[in-house]
Amino acid sequence: MTEAPASANLISLFPTGILVSDLPELDNAALARSIRALQSGEGGRHALIAGEGISTYAGARDLHKRPEFKPFVDAATTRLLGFARSLGADLEHMDLLMIDCWSNIQQPGSQVLLHRHPNSLISAAYYVEAPANCGRIMFETPLEPYRMSDFPRFARQTEFNAKRYAVEPVPGRLVLFPSWLGHHTETNRSNAERMVISFNVAARIKP
Ligand SMILES: [Fe+2]
Repeated sequence: MTEAPASANLISLFPTGILVSDLPELDNAALARSIRALQSGEGGRHALIAGEGISTYAGARDLHKRPEFKPFVDAATTRLLGFARSLGADLEHMDLLMIDCWSNIQQPGSQVLLHRHPNSLISAAYYVEAPANCGRIMFETPLEPYRMSDFPRFARQTEFNAKRYAVEPVPGRLVLFPSWLGHHTETNRSNAERMVISFNVAARIKP
């Protein structure tokens, strides 16, 4: 069979947007101190962390309202607004509100199991401490259940056949994603803690 190049006419249909943005203006050492102080009093087990880990998800989910986290909230919000605008959101008639914010500390050998964030629009992970090999965050394609048939082999990974996408955690890195997008982490194979701040965002139409 002869072959005609298709790339000029190829349409990428219904893509999913995530934003990976580094926040160099933040003091991660100060954030880590605040989180460790919180975890000692208000941290506890989290059902989605397999292995040793501690979270404020049940005890303190209001970090966005605490003054020591204001620099983080301000920095993350600027990226959130840019992300939403890139996705076509009408920010003239809508406010985006951080509705909860918590922190996780994962010990070596632990991982976060596959989940989504119900009752939320956009979610985030921010890496305060992320040693090498502490486990990437993995996003899974939402299309898998709908692909009744597929090529039996692919010569290369493209946006049209990717089943998952991995983001390397780096201290100071913020990842924003649609809350409905399934995600999990690889196992923390470093010998140090993996410290993350997460939050959820809702939209409200302006009165
Ligand atoms: Fe999550």
